[in-house]
Amino acid sequence: MSVLSSSIARKVAMALSALFLIIFLIIHLAVNLTSLFSADAFNEASHFMGTNPLIQFAMQPVLIFGVVFHFVMGFVLELRNRGARNVKYAKFNGAASSTWASRNMIISGAVILAFIVLHFIDFWIPELNTKYVLGDMSGVLPGEEGYRYFEELQHKFANPLRVGAYVVAFVLLAIHLMHGFQSAFQSMGFNNKYTGFVKAFGKFYSIVIPLGFIIVALCHHFNH
Ligand code: HEM
Repeated sequence: MSVLSSSIARKVAMALSALFLIIFLIIHLAVNLTSLFSADAFNEASHFMGTNPLIQFAMQPVLIFGVVFHFVMGFVLELRNRGARNVKYAKFNGAASSTWASRNMIISGAVILAFIVLHFIDFWIPELNTKYVLGDMSGVLPGEEGYRYFEELQHKFANPLRVGAYVVAFVLLAIHLMHGFQSAFQSMGFNNKYTGFVKAFGKFYSIVIPLGFIIVALCHHFNH
C-alpha cells in the first residue's frame, strides 16, 4: 500500500508542498524586488541563482518536483472529493457555508498553472537553452558589456498583453493563497493558541506577496 493512499496522508503531502512553494515565493519576490532598486543587484542575484551548481542541480530539481507534485496532487484531491460527493447535498447553500476561494481552489490553481506554463516559456526555457544547449554560462550577450538579465526582464514586460495576463494570474494567486495558506496549516493538524496568528499572517502574506509581483510587473512595463 503506498504512503499516499490514505486521504489524510494526501492532504498532509499537499500541505507540505504548499508550504515549500510559499517559501519559494518569498525568495523569488525578494530577487525580483532588487530589480526595482538596482539593475546591478538584480543582475548579480540572477547570475548567482542561474549558475550556482547547488541551486541549479540540487534546489531547482526539488522546486520543479514540488511544483509538479502540488498541481498533480491538487487535481487528484479534487477528483476524489467530487467522487466522494456523488450524492448531492439536500440543500447546498455554498455562499453561506464556505468562501468562494475555498470552493474554487481548482479554478484558481488551474489559472496559476496556465501562468506557470507561460512563465516557463517566457523566462525559464530560454535560460535553459542559452546555458545548457548553447553552452553560454557567461550571462553576457555577445558584443555587449555587463549581464543581460535586467535588460531581458524589461524587454519581456514591454508587452501590455503579457503584463495583463501576469496581473490576472497574480490576483488569482492572491485568492488561491487566501484559502490555501491557512488550509495547509489545518491539514497538518496545527491547532493551538497560535492558530489566530497563522490565519492573520496568511491573509497578510496572500495580499503582500502577489501585490509585490504586480508592482514588479507594472514598474517594468511603465519604466523602460
Ligand atoms: C513579476 C513577476 C515575476 C517575474 C518578473 C518573474 C521572473 C522570473 C525569472 C527571471 C525567472 C528565472 C529563470 C531562470 O533564470 O532560470 C523565473 C523563474 C521561475 N518563476 Fe518567476 N517571476 C515572476 C513571478 C512568478 C510567480 C508568481 C511564480 C509562481 C506562482 C513564479 C514561478 C517561477 C518558477 C517556478 C520559476 C523556475 C525557477 C527556476 O528558475 O528554477 N514566478 N521567474
